[in-house]
Amino acid sequence: MPAYDLVRHDYDVVVIGAGGAGLRATLGMAEGGLRTACITKVFPTRSHTVAAQGGIAASLGNLGPDAWQWHMYDTVKGSDWLGDVDAMEYLAREAPRAVYELEHYGVPFSRNEDGRIYQRPFGGHTTEFGEGPPVQRTCAAADRTGHAILHTLYGESLKQKAEFYIEHFAIDLLMSSDGVCNGVMTWSLEEGVLQPFSAKRVFLPTGGSGGGVFSATSAHTCTGDGNGMAARVGLPLQDMEFVQFHPTGIYGAGVLITEGARGEGGYLTNSEGERFMERYAPTYKDLASRDVVSRCMTLEIREGRGVGPDGDHIHLHLDHLPPETLAERLPGISESARIFAGVDLTRAPVPVLPTVHYNMGGIPTNYHGEVIRPAPDDPDALQPGLMAVGEAACASVHGANRLGSN
Ligand code: FUM
Repeated sequence: MPAYDLVRHDYDVVVIGAGGAGLRATLGMAEGGLRTACITKVFPTRSHTVAAQGGIAASLGNLGPDAWQWHMYDTVKGSDWLGDVDAMEYLAREAPRAVYELEHYGVPFSRNEDGRIYQRPFGGHTTEFGEGPPVQRTCAAADRTGHAILHTLYGESLKQKAEFYIEHFAIDLLMSSDGVCNGVMTWSLEEGVLQPFSAKRVFLPTGGSGGGVFSATSAHTCTGDGNGMAARVGLPLQDMEFVQFHPTGIYGAGVLITEGARGEGGYLTNSEGERFMERYAPTYKDLASRDVVSRCMTLEIREGRGVGPDGDHIHLHLDHLPPETLAERLPGISESARIFAGVDLTRAPVPVLPTVHYNMGGIPTNYHGEVIRPAPDDPDALQPGLMAVGEAACASVHGANRLGSN
């Protein structure tokens, strides 16, 4: 057995991952006076949340009537009735407070004429418990909302003296002999040195695993490391079959074209030039929830109405929108369409295909983020010392289908 040099660390809290969930957890712990370490395999502002485009849902009602109860109803329905209702209530009730908190930290949200936060329509978000028109509920910073959130939370975390271990790869959770999670073993990629961290509480906001499939909107870094670490200490993973397809990944590249594109008036057509969503979902059309739109696109392709030489994709039109709207509201996807599809959005439709986007399943938790390790006599028993949040976790706030921007 070779001897390894170990560099040891000791903290109150260790957070593994620096995406939106990881940075918000890091910031909260540091603000609370806890000695907090955040371990991340990439530089924090390069975490996959940087690719979250369209925005974050909250019933602020800045552009028309809205209510958290309507948001909750849409979330329950959007989940295909398979989510945890307590978690969904918590999300819908708390979302406005969370968005104002981000605003006060400094997230540069886009603004309406009256100076309030701009909100756009997103698939599956409606009014009057699904009986009214679509609602503008998704709070946006152009189409770079995640990018804006990451930069703000990273800066605030540094201000609170959280300590970052960057380009450290978390290898395995450390467990005490009586089954408490009390740290993590990491590998510093720069120095090639193993560095164990001990902590009173370990957080797993390690993101999803979409990077492991052929075509995904996820970064290549989304490799499910946290789920792997949890499984290796005998924790169950829940609902892993619930993998979400986003309707508009760029054909061939997988890169995301935000649902905000349809929120701003974009629409899909088949090889006959038909706006086929009007046939499948006459009320909400292209703003039906994303699982519905993805299925309809796939049916169109299977029934021979796909576009392109092989009839294997669909067109997304934004060329009817004023170029100023594209420049102001959707600058990021204008660039993505040019780079990855060679398309000028002001002149031509972009070729798109349903593409793996989000893992609803993951490490089972309650809606406080505490990890559940079911026992024979208690299905809700907790794993001491361990919490999980964000895409790595399954609360299950999204059930079988997460509404975009939730
Ligand atoms: O389409 C999008 O901008 C994706 C957003 C989301 O999944 O929340």
